[in-house]
Amino acid sequence: MNVNFYERLWMWAAGVIIVAFIAVIGVSAVAYGLHPPSHVETIDPAKVFTDPRFSRLGEPVVQPDGVIEVQIVGLMFAFAPAEVRVPAGRPIRFRMTSADVTHGFMIAGTNANTMLVPGYISQFTTVFPRAGDYLIVCHEFCGNGHHVMAGKIIVEEAK
Ligand code: CUA
Repeated sequence: MNVNFYERLWMWAAGVIIVAFIAVIGVSAVAYGLHPPSHVETIDPAKVFTDPRFSRLGEPVVQPDGVIEVQIVGLMFAFAPAEVRVPAGRPIRFRMTSADVTHGFMIAGTNANTMLVPGYISQFTTVFPRAGDYLIVCHEFCGNGHHVMAGKIIVEEAK
């Protein structure tokens, strides 16, 4: 089949771009630890505050595998709790959900970024290499108070 030179050129360019995009996804997943937060576990958004899986809000709980679990609920227009203290250099597993509408959860200056979707539990594990205060912002428009919906993670020097 005779394909025009420029058409062939564009076909190759499209192919190279697709391969490059897949490579970027692979590199960010493996080298930078970026991964989609899970949306596999379900929860009744109306019963979030009585659910045993969210009975220790904001209280870091050391799990048998050594990971520190932190539970956070997003609701109009705050995070419960608004402030969490965790140690630096330890894996922290955030387990979160929404009690009403879809919220965002982004820890500024890190790669921690997920959505809090009502009915689902979002989970990701991250490590804060340095102590300091980290701002949590809601980056999904959730209503009139969206712009004031924020929280704080205080990362303390490991003891
Ligand atoms: Cu919650 Cu915007």
